[in-house]
Amino acid sequence: MTATPVLLTVDSPGHDLAGPWWPAPAMAQVNQRIAALTRRYVTVEHLCDRLADLPRQFQTPQPRSWNRVNWGTIHPDQVTGISLDTFCAILLGTINTEAPIRGYTQASRQYLEQFYPQMAHFVGGTVNADGQVVTPGLWEREEKRHTPALTMLYHRLSRKQPHPVPHAARPYTPSGNPRTDLYRHGLHRIATEYGAACLYLWMMAYTTGPTQAVLAELLIDEVNHMTKFWGFGRWAYPETSLGMMAGVLTQAMVQKWRQPKLQGSLVHTLGRMTRELAWSQWHISHRLTFCYALDQVMRVLWRWERSLTPAYLTALFGPNPTHL
Ligand SMILES: [Fe+2]
Ligand SMILES: [Fe+2]
Repeated sequence: MTATPVLLTVDSPGHDLAGPWWPAPAMAQVNQRIAALTRRYVTVEHLCDRLADLPRQFQTPQPRSWNRVNWGTIHPDQVTGISLDTFCAILLGTINTEAPIRGYTQASRQYLEQFYPQMAHFVGGTVNADGQVVTPGLWEREEKRHTPALTMLYHRLSRKQPHPVPHAARPYTPSGNPRTDLYRHGLHRIATEYGAACLYLWMMAYTTGPTQAVLAELLIDEVNHMTKFWGFGRWAYPETSLGMMAGVLTQAMVQKWRQPKLQGSLVHTLGRMTRELAWSQWHISHRLTFCYALDQVMRVLWRWERSLTPAYLTALFGPNPTHL
């Protein structure tokens, strides 16, 4: 039986940011909402714009301002198609994963600063001689809004205070080959921004009203960062191919297999994320719609990737200093 859309307005009656809102959506309807969200928030044009913004942000960093959030109107009724318990367990996982942003930004800064000081500044800001942060980077300033917003959302929906258990960010760990270290670290960062973007987009498909609007702010930030990291990475490593990417990922998997306690590999992160996000509680339909979201976003990324020609990237960022 097909449910009738409920009248909750954002764009037009019965619609929200993801299109028609259904009180008990079937999987096909959730997928329609995911496709609509992708068309709204992750287009090739939008990704081009977000990357073109990066040189401006190097010069005059300016955090994107959020739309005002009406916290008092957040209500459990705004979550549908997934149990509130599971949804809140996922929210708690995102809280644990978003923190500690300072640890993440400082590791990234250290990998970058030898080769790309402007990007190091964008992610990690400036530090004094003792390594203490004097001014935070733009990435940190934008990301640090996420944990409080998710905490408030969790509190409003569950009526409980979350008890976060943030894990320690893996510190800068040089191996003696800084170019490869940066490449591996960058892949990791792109993967986590992509994962976060897809997760918030997927959560928006199951929500409406002010709850959905909060998640939209997080989604816009994650898409922005994912795009900037990916595009900058294409400029910084023009010689990379899918083969090299597969090689680095395979190496990470083999390392993990040899040293099961090894932290910081993509495999380790993936394992930790599935535990954090309560994957075992997810119904099969939730797993399938999440995979659909991953696929929808990746398709746009691949289409956009074709526009990242060496000539375009050089026009944007100048000649690559490691190739002079
Ligand atoms: Fe985030
Ligand atoms: Fe992020």
